[in-house]
Formats: sequence, structure tokens, C-alpha cells
Amino acid sequence: MVFLFAKSFVGMLFVEERSLRRSLSSSELTACVGLVFVEGVALVGGLERVDDWRGTKRSYFLYLEVVFFLEDWELLEMSKAGALDLASGLGGKIEKDDVLSAVDKYEKYHVCYGGDEEERKANYTDMVNKYYDLVTSFYEYGWGESFHFAPRWKGESLRESIKRHEHFLALQLGLKPKQKVLDVGCGIGGPLREIARFSSTSVTGLNNNEYQISRGKALNSIVGVDQTCNFVKADFMKMPFPDNTFDAVYAIEATCHAPDAVGCYKEIFRVLKPGQCFAAYEWCMTDSFDPNNQEHQKIKGEIEIGDGLPDIRLTRQCLEALKMAGFEVIREKDLAVGSPVPWYLPLDKSHFSLSSFRLTAMGRFITKNMVMALEYVGLAPKGSQRVQLFLEQAAEGLVAGGKKEIFTPLYFFLARKPQSDVL
Ligand SMILES: C[S@@+](CC[C@H](N)C(=O)[O-])C[C@H]1O[C@@H](n2cnc3c(N)ncnc32)[C@H](O)[C@@H]1O
Repeated sequence: MVFLFAKSFVGMLFVEERSLRRSLSSSELTACVGLVFVEGVALVGGLERVDDWRGTKRSYFLYLEVVFFLEDWELLEMSKAGALDLASGLGGKIEKDDVLSAVDKYEKYHVCYGGDEEERKANYTDMVNKYYDLVTSFYEYGWGESFHFAPRWKGESLRESIKRHEHFLALQLGLKPKQKVLDVGCGIGGPLREIARFSSTSVTGLNNNEYQISRGKALNSIVGVDQTCNFVKADFMKMPFPDNTFDAVYAIEATCHAPDAVGCYKEIFRVLKPGQCFAAYEWCMTDSFDPNNQEHQKIKGEIEIGDGLPDIRLTRQCLEALKMAGFEVIREKDLAVGSPVPWYLPLDKSHFSLSSFRLTAMGRFITKNMVMALEYVGLAPKGSQRVQLFLEQAAEGLVAGGKKEIFTPLYFFLARKPQSDVL
């Protein structure tokens, strides 16, 4: 289905082709007008005549619908992009009646609710899984299938920059057709599908969140990579793979959830074949972060609660951890430095974009009110607004951390497991 509309102009009229197409068989479009509020959201109203299969009995339907759509209709069919999808997915595998208490428990892990780092690290599985059960449908609604940031060029859309960032990792790893690749902390598999198709490799997505895996499997079969790619539900601190299994391993904004970087990198080292590479984008505090500065600590706390993190390591701590795990570091760089468009721009309140409207301050304001209404009428579980609130806190912390250059989600490294892994 394609909407015929003049994109991006508030108040343009358009004709809904779905109704037109239906009219070829059993129903006839009598009138249909729509109002495009903003790119991605429209109000469609129409009068439709529907005949029964014999063509004898006629009914007229007057309808009014709010339509959420993307530029590319196939993407809309794949992604859970609508408000009702957001509501129905909210809570992931948590029973809908238990969402509110899950939010309570999740928040209590964090500093502003009296929690501490040790407790978060000791209970990382529970904390991180609760977080992703609660937020995944918001992520999918706002970001699409890939849950990560990207450095960006001027003139490049957010979606293009995200894909380029994924291709960059594949090129750095020198992926070759038919290789067996591991995606550590794969989300719902956006990067996995892109990298598998880009490099003709077979990618295994490792994830400890059951709800995300169920979404990933559904999306893999829609695009047709389900024969070559798969998902494994497990903790990246103890992977269920034999030693020396994979030709390459990558992790995109995922190993920051590890309670201990050395332990996590050692597991990656173990499952990687000798002589092969591991590449990642890590979330890190930079050298400009001052642990004695209260404002810096507040920003760090906001990012931790808003993003399900036990602690955020410094770039140099990640580097040390890689070496301690046995890797040779080939190259490393904070890709935020020198990016022509800052990675946090889509979340910055002063920025407006039609193509990533849902991430903007106005888009988030609409989502907030929509979630409030959905919760009020019982379509979204109780606690949904609280999830939206800590995500809002995350956005503020991320933008502030990015602007002050004390935080980066783009710390890139490429590391090799030596041919002989005797340390
Ligand atoms: C920010 S998301 C990134 C997802 C994906 N890499 C992407 O870019 O779309 C972090 C992911 O790491 C996963 N994760 C966190 N801790 C994990 C653990 N201990 N074991 C396996 N996966 C984990 C989460 O479930 C989530 O899918």
C-alpha cells in the first residue's frame, strides 16, 4: 500500500490507496481525505461502500483512523511501528499486570532510588532483562530495528548513518561470504540482518532477552535470512558455544551491560577462532569525565537508569580489559570525535527532524501523551508512563553527556585473538 501524499507538509490532502485497491473488488471508495499531521502520522477519514460477495447487499462505512506510516511501506509491515504495537509490546514477556511492579523493582536498582553499583552488578541479569522487557517496544517505535547511535555526515539521514555504521564494522572485520559470525547482545537483530545481507555471512545473534529474540525471529523470517542466521538465548558472560567457534565476533552498544568487562571479553576471546577479530562499539565515559564533579555524576546516573547499565566504564578501562582478556588491539577510536553531525542530535530538544520525528522533543511529547491515554483506557499496562519517563531521563543524560563530551556511545575498537592463545 502506498499513500499518495505530498510528504512533509502539514495539512496536505491525500488519497488512501488501500481503499482504492479494495474498491476494485468488493467496495467502492466514495470519499476519502486525510490530513498529514507530520511525516509518519495522519488522520484519515472516509466513506466507503462495501458490497457482499454476491454484489447484492450494500453497506456504507464511515471511518476515521489515525494512521502511522513510514516512508517505505514494506518497513511498516515489518516493524511494530504503530501506537497499538507500542502498547501491546510494552512489558515484553512480563505479565501485563506485573509491569508496574517490574518498573518499581527496576528503578530501585538505581542511584536516584537508593540503589548502588554493586547491587546492579550482582543482579545484572534481572536488571537488564527487566529493562529490555519494559523498553523494547518504545525502542522499536522510535528507532526501528537497530538500537544504536551512529556518527553522521551532513546530508545523511539517521537511518542511512545507522546502516553505514553497521557496514563499517563488517568492513573492519573483513567479513567474507559463508563465515560464521557472532553478534553479541543482538537486540531484535537489525544489525544482524543488515550485516548478514551486506557480507553474505551467517550470523548468530546472542541475546539474553526472550522477548527481543521472539521479535528477531519474526523479522528474520520476513526478510528471508532465517535459513542462514539464528538466535541463541544466553548470557554473554557464559556463552553456550565451544571454544574457537566463530570466524568473527562483533558487539554493538551491548557489552556495556556486562557487570565485568574482562569476564565478558574473555568469553568472546574463548569462542573466537585464533587469528580472528572482535570489533565493537562501546558506551564509555571519556577522559573528560571527572568523578568528583557532581554534574558529571548526575549525567552518568541518568544514562545508567535510562539505559539499564550497571556502571559506565572509561574508554581506557575497556582498552585495558581487552588486553587482559588476551586480545591484541589493532585500532581504537572514539568515532564521536570529528563526526560532522553529533550522534546525540536526534534526541536534542533544540533539534527538529521530520524523518526522525518520534525521537524529537515534540515527537516524545506526543508519545508521552499517547502513552498516558493508552494507559488510561487500559490498552497499555499500568506503569507504561513511568517507563516513558525514565527513557526521557536517558535522553536528557545522553544529550548532556554528548554535549559535554564526557560520554560516548561510539567508542570503536578492533582486536585480534593471537594465532597462539597461550597467554
Ligand atoms: C542497546 S541494545 C543493542 C542491540 C543491538 N546490538 C543493536 O544495535 O540493535 C543491547 C542488547 O544487549 C543485550 N544484552 C544485555 N546484557 C546481555 C547479556 N548479559 N547477555 C546477552 N545479551 C545481553 C540486550 O538484551 C540488548 O539486546
